[in-house]
Amino acid sequence: MLLAEHAEPDQAGWTRRVFSPAYLESRQVVADLMAASGLEVSRDAAGNLLGQLPGAEPDLPSLVIGSHTDTVAGGGRFDGMVGVVAAIEVARRLQAEGTGLWHPLRVVDFLGEEPNRFGLSCLGSRAVTGHLDPAHLQLRDGSGITLGEALVGVGARPESIQSARWPEKSIHGYIELHIEQGARLERAGRRLGVVSGIVGIHRARVELIGRPDHAGTTPMGGRLDAIQAAAQVILGIDRIGRRHEGAEGVATVGQITVEPNSPNVVAARATLVAELRSLDAEWLAQGDEQVAALVAQVAAGTGVVAELAWVSQESPVACHPTMRRLLAQAVRELGAEPLEVASGASHDAAHLARLGPMGMLFIPSLGGRSHCPEEWTEPEQVALGTSALLQAVRAVDRAQL
Ligand code: GLV
Ligand code: MN
Ligand code: MN
Repeated sequence: MLLAEHAEPDQAGWTRRVFSPAYLESRQVVADLMAASGLEVSRDAAGNLLGQLPGAEPDLPSLVIGSHTDTVAGGGRFDGMVGVVAAIEVARRLQAEGTGLWHPLRVVDFLGEEPNRFGLSCLGSRAVTGHLDPAHLQLRDGSGITLGEALVGVGARPESIQSARWPEKSIHGYIELHIEQGARLERAGRRLGVVSGIVGIHRARVELIGRPDHAGTTPMGGRLDAIQAAAQVILGIDRIGRRHEGAEGVATVGQITVEPNSPNVVAARATLVAELRSLDAEWLAQGDEQVAALVAQVAAGTGVVAELAWVSQESPVACHPTMRRLLAQAVRELGAEPLEVASGASHDAAHLARLGPMGMLFIPSLGGRSHCPEEWTEPEQVALGTSALLQAVRAVDRAQL
């Protein structure tokens, strides 16, 4: 709730987007919290905030816990924040109880997990895996600013971004506590979930270029209307999400900008961002083909020029089997029966899985609501999740993964 005080004043909800002044301020709060909990705080070249706690065996690889503290526009107070604050609390308790770990513990507030105006999410967790490359740094927002320039504004050092990379197999494991953002825990009456896997996300930008004309004098037959073409693409994407071939998936157009966006001008241009999500890589691959066919078909049918570019194509990621077992055991030790759940949201954890065994714990979201101001998890559920994270950290520290 301390972080919620740092919200963008002109936005709905508890908005704290990655490059905003509110985000920058809030991260000082996180750094102070880390320091007050006995962590040695540093910032890497990618803008990640790191807190280190030494282990009894300093040469062992680190056990990593954390999440993110940025939000979507109009977002809530729990998505990401819970994982960072709980991780800091776990470090504080380990110190206070004098029950250190064998492995060094690294607490991370990863930079910018949510999508941003450059179209690339999970900036910090991509960087530690070496997947934030120079081409990404050249991505431009609507006003021509590059991602590299924006990164400087949040204290990152894009010229040495590679130094933020963690060597392969350099972590003992990664555990992330997160709100479920769906309603399965609530429906099942369970207090804690152990995640089986994280959906893959294929995100595309579709540009539809029509022709601006007078909306009163241009006959219906003589138009190149970008919004009309966009409507066809949007409905088509929805149909792609509803098909039932293979595993389930979802498809969304969550963003659209139009030009000139005037009631009496036939739209000259519409830009959509569409995404497909599924745990099934085959479903995603088929979806990609269907999106390409849809866009071509709309272009042919309307005469509008259509350009399709895949912004990111992240594969589904399975959580590590031993992690899942250890996390479930940790939950049972607290007297709760875990529910095994797949994550329809993506997380920094999906990227960290490239570096070592990854596991996730979920706590319930009231009514399954998330990415909205109403996002809510009861304080006692956050406390239980934090205890489960601590229990899991202790178990994973001792385990051979
Ligand atoms: C992360 O919030 C996502 O888009 O799943
Ligand atoms: Mn989110
Ligand atoms: Mn999140």
